[in-house]
Amino acid sequence: MSPTETLADPLDVMGRLLAPAGKQNPYPLYEEMRAHGPVVDVSGVHVFVTGHAECARALRDPHLLSTDAAVQDVKLPGWREHSSWYWLTKNMLFSNDPDHDRYRRFFSSAFSARSVAAWQPMVRRRAEDAVSNVAALGAGGEMVDLVPEFTFRMATGVIGELLGIPDEDHAGLRGIVGDITLALEPIGDLAQLVPGDGAMDRLAEYFHDLVARRRAAPGSDLTSAFVKARDAGGELTEQELVANLMLLLVAAAEAPQDLLSNMVRLALEHPVERARLCEDPQSAAGFVDETLRFDPAVQALNRVAARDLEFFGVKVAAGVPLTLLIAAGNRDPRRFTDPGVFDPSRPDNQPLTFSGGAHYCLGAALARMSAETAVPKLLNRLPGMALVGPPTFRNQIVQRGHDRLLVTTG
Ligand code: HEM
Repeated sequence: MSPTETLADPLDVMGRLLAPAGKQNPYPLYEEMRAHGPVVDVSGVHVFVTGHAECARALRDPHLLSTDAAVQDVKLPGWREHSSWYWLTKNMLFSNDPDHDRYRRFFSSAFSARSVAAWQPMVRRRAEDAVSNVAALGAGGEMVDLVPEFTFRMATGVIGELLGIPDEDHAGLRGIVGDITLALEPIGDLAQLVPGDGAMDRLAEYFHDLVARRRAAPGSDLTSAFVKARDAGGELTEQELVANLMLLLVAAAEAPQDLLSNMVRLALEHPVERARLCEDPQSAAGFVDETLRFDPAVQALNRVAARDLEFFGVKVAAGVPLTLLIAAGNRDPRRFTDPGVFDPSRPDNQPLTFSGGAHYCLGAALARMSAETAVPKLLNRLPGMALVGPPTFRNQIVQRGHDRLLVTTG
């Protein structure tokens, strides 16, 4: 920025970020915000964080709280009338200790490194199914929308099988999952929650029913295991069980879907990197990390100061919200060389996209393995695949991904 240019007001930058054009391409706006520094104090009432080290520290600070029920009472009065947030505040993502610790202890061992390794054959089978689906649909030269036909099918296939959700129910869950993620967007008006409310009610009914069926006739799936652990005296109410099962489905369907779509698009846009991904299986891990850094499925996370504190020299009063712009942190030039360049061979790549600290993503290893398996398989099977027109993104900023991704399969 030249000395004669003036900085745009941070709230104006935020306003443009929330407009449809900003959501299609938020990255120049993050740079406008970064011009104010890594920690941007807006008159003591809101803080935006754009730096990598600063976001990483915020995620590990026990005095910065996730949006639980008590936080939401202050941030969004009236939320208790809305079932989307009623249910969200009963899951581990939107709780703080001691509830968070209790939930996390109950669910985390199911996602250990050993469990994830044992799921590899299932993940390969699901990837094979999603790839074959695309190959069959595109065989006559027809356009295929990869979002429902590959990325959602793969992501939901994996978590659906783990949770014991029958395959015939997967397609019907797509709209429900999408509507629930709308409740995570910045809320200007409570009416914005209505689509998420309806979706959450339908999903809660679905999971209450699934839990009842698995209780009556247990299988080898995780839902059966969780029901058994709860009934054997696990510290969890039935509602908390249902709320966290819903979280597992939504978290494992939407963000992995977006990671897969973004990976395929970036591969199709970068032929040299695509060729390397196809030829060298060892390069897949770097490709996943760079996609997570360069165009993350989750762009921003919210925290609230539990008490008066000082954060990198900025005084933050109790109750002040902090918006951690992790997608900006992922392009912090103090941390990454040429941050605007897509470079899957980047060394020491540590994107913030799976969060950090107490809420570090429980499904990170599973999401990585699924993406490393599915995308090279797709590109190797269909070497003539090409994008049809410029890809567009959903009108969302917290959870970013393609609404459609049209390709021909060659
Ligand atoms: C690309 C894929 C994924 C991304 C980008 C992602 C991202 C995230 C992020 C950013 C958080 C923490 C939010 C915060 O700190 O406020 C989180 C938490 C979580 N994720 Fe993921 N996730 C992905 C895949 C998955 C999968 C496959 C699962 C399930 C198997 C999963 C389950 C969870 C759960 C249960 C939490 C809550 C953890 C807690 O609060 O302790 N995620 N994820």
